Amino acid sequence: MTGAVVSALVAGFAGGAAPTRAAGAINLSAVHRAAVKPVDCRHLKCVALTFDDGPNRSTADLLKVLRRAHVRATFFMLGIQVQQFPQVARAVARGGHEIGDHTWDHKDLTRMSPHDVKVEIARARTEIAHATGREPQLFRPPYGSTTPTVARLAGALGMPEVLWDVDTQDWLYRHPHDVQHNAVGAAFPGAIILMHDIYPSTVAAVPAIIKQLRERGYTLVTVSQLYGRMRPGVEYFGMPSAKPKPQPSVGSPAAGKGPGSKSPIPLRSRSSKSFRP
Ligand code: NI
Repeated sequence: MTGAVVSALVAGFAGGAAPTRAAGAINLSAVHRAAVKPVDCRHLKCVALTFDDGPNRSTADLLKVLRRAHVRATFFMLGIQVQQFPQVARAVARGGHEIGDHTWDHKDLTRMSPHDVKVEIARARTEIAHATGREPQLFRPPYGSTTPTVARLAGALGMPEVLWDVDTQDWLYRHPHDVQHNAVGAAFPGAIILMHDIYPSTVAAVPAIIKQLRERGYTLVTVSQLYGRMRPGVEYFGMPSAKPKPQPSVGSPAAGKGPGSKSPIPLRSRSSKSFRP
């Protein structure tokens, strides 16, 4: 497929992604503005909690936890889950949280044609917009598995690509203490922490994670608060000035890259079916 054809198709998807229903009575734009109020993470000790693969019933429980603690987080949603739990997706938006596109149904994008990648991303984007009244502003590839083409296609839809620095492996360790230990133990200023809101064990860990991070002086922010202005098509993880502990997790997208780097494309594929993100 030629670049011109790809661009035309992407433009077509972008044009078709506008929300057409469920804009609703609440002022979501006001909620969104509140969600991204300026926080200067160059001077504060910031960390971003991110939750993938939802929404589902556990997400609703997590929203209560976050509301009580006055924390705003970032949710990378699957289109297929949004289709099943549109009210929960909407509640996430109403809670002032940030919402990202995690594709329609969590396929490894590095094994798909550019056309199919675009469908995976754009279909989820449309579903999220329908359910929440706003388009996702961020993209995270399933498994952290990406290529320059994937990043470019997300960029053509206006979205930067957001990976993570701290993998809690909460999909594997289904005990709140383990999740808490992995999240807090590996946190560093500027880090993006990966969790999954679909697991009750993760939701149960979040109150202690918030408490302990705050005791260590962290401000909990959304991904866009962490970075400020973000550029579509660019990959983000960690803050340029951060000095992270090395992340030992095999298969983590942060593995093997410079600590705290905010590298633009090109990227290498980090496909791994052995882990869940
Ligand atoms: Ni995922």
